[in-house]
Amino acid sequence: MNKQIETVLNYHNRTKHRLERYAKGPESIDWEDQPDQFRHFSGCEIVTLPKPGGELDVLFSALDSPETITAQPLTLVNVSLLLELAFGLSAWKQFGPSRWALRCNPSSGNLHPTEAYVISTGQNDLKNGVYHYVSHDHTLEQRCRFSDNMTESSLAIGLSSVHWREAWKYGERAFRYCQHDLGHAIGALRYAAATLGWSIELIAEMSDDDIAQLLGLNRHEDFKALEHESPDLICRINIGIDSKPFDVDALIADTKVGLWSGKADSLRAYHLYKWPLIDEVAIAASKPSTKEPKWQAVQSLPLPTDCKQTATSLIRQRRSAQQFDGKMSPMSQADFYRILSAVLPTSPAFQAWRWSAKIHLFIFVHRVEGLAPGVYALPRNHEALEKLKAGTLETFMWQSVAKEIPLYHLYSGDCRQFAKTLSCHQPIASDSAFSLGMVAEFSDTMNDAAWLYRRLFWETGLIGQVLYLEAEAAGYRGTGIGCYFDDSVHELLGFKDEQFQSLYHFTIGRPLEDKRIETLSAYEHLG
Ligand SMILES: Cc1cc2nc3c(=O)[nH]c(=O)nc-3n(C[C@H](O)[C@H](O)[C@H](O)COP(=O)(O)O)c2cc1C
Repeated sequence: MNKQIETVLNYHNRTKHRLERYAKGPESIDWEDQPDQFRHFSGCEIVTLPKPGGELDVLFSALDSPETITAQPLTLVNVSLLLELAFGLSAWKQFGPSRWALRCNPSSGNLHPTEAYVISTGQNDLKNGVYHYVSHDHTLEQRCRFSDNMTESSLAIGLSSVHWREAWKYGERAFRYCQHDLGHAIGALRYAAATLGWSIELIAEMSDDDIAQLLGLNRHEDFKALEHESPDLICRINIGIDSKPFDVDALIADTKVGLWSGKADSLRAYHLYKWPLIDEVAIAASKPSTKEPKWQAVQSLPLPTDCKQTATSLIRQRRSAQQFDGKMSPMSQADFYRILSAVLPTSPAFQAWRWSAKIHLFIFVHRVEGLAPGVYALPRNHEALEKLKAGTLETFMWQSVAKEIPLYHLYSGDCRQFAKTLSCHQPIASDSAFSLGMVAEFSDTMNDAAWLYRRLFWETGLIGQVLYLEAEAAGYRGTGIGCYFDDSVHELLGFKDEQFQSLYHFTIGRPLEDKRIETLSAYEHLG
């Protein structure tokens, strides 16, 4: 086994939560010392984006057929809406003296390690260059200015992670959470783009070194030592269908001769605890340049939704439930099946995901009309079915329960107690309509390359983002669950080795609001 794969596998095992011991994290947290959630680069030219809060009359249900949505023109107003719906603020919350921002993209612990960049050429109202997006101010900071002679119109979004923001609270397990958040960010960007009639294309061939060059993340003198950003992904935004090929090499060449400005402000946190394991795994899981397939799966419509809301309002209302009504009446079977159909790889939400599905769902059904409480499985590609059957408990029944979706009933019985226990004793996993584990085809994937570890987590985050929005569309609410006891989940399902590993959990139910917490509008502070 190569050294990088070994390092990543060691990281994975070492950062498992166990019933008797959580993964290593800080012994105490000083909330006054939380790293700044909003990065600013001082010394850049700032572009104030058009006022956030714009509406489009595209319905959420129309995103099932993105080809029917008229593409909006590539203007600063629409770029502004794209950024807001993907990464912008969705509300402020206030409880006593505490006030915190929520965003359209969720984040483990609301710590938001993901940073977003815009690479733009050939727009009338945005000079050619690389920009950092500041969600708090809804502004762009120009990091690099390209030559004005570039007239070819192109727009791309770059994503990176400040691991320290997440490690500050979660210690060694934080690298996993940063990857989940990236998957959510990809999903958030996809929904935002689809609302504008645009689509996203992952420029997945690129090496991390090239991404770092393009986004200026390799300009080490511009960052405080422990507060650097790790390169993750470039997504091209396609406006209409006849977009020209994306010339990454030309853009990278521009960053070498372009005019860079700005230095990242300190995140203002005292680095009391240090987590060298995160840097080790980040290096071992860094991606070289690769050849990647074109999209393979046939797109098909998910089951119909009754949602009549516009996409813009639904995206802005997405929240995590903190508590569920454990006495809720059961979720309708139609809602349940719709939600599951939307996470199948053939659903348009996965249009940009170019690889066959490696993540499958094991679902703890608590309260769904017409379904016996118990354990169910949704293999997200048919080829995995036999492997999953062979890899799980022999007593599982594997009875197909629906013609519309590949859902199998494995076990009947009340799973509330163990769903809660397995999710770090969190009642959100048992008071819901259902909760689930996202199980990866782990060892086969990891045998191929160490960096695929990150992509597995991105796939789970993308599924999580679909679940969040689908839950809202059905009148329910979801919550991502990063805290669960890894090997206890594996034991319960009967996994004997690392062929399958559960990488993320999720829960959906009827939320209970905490009336003491006030909700304030997202951008009132901008006046
Ligand atoms: C990867 C990930 C893991 C999460 N894990 C948990 C969890 O274990 N328990 C929980 O109550 N919330 C969890 N959350 C929800 C976050 O706390 C929530 O997204 C964050 O506070 C921001 O709130 P919002 O989703 O309402 O915008 C998780 C979210 C993400 C994206």
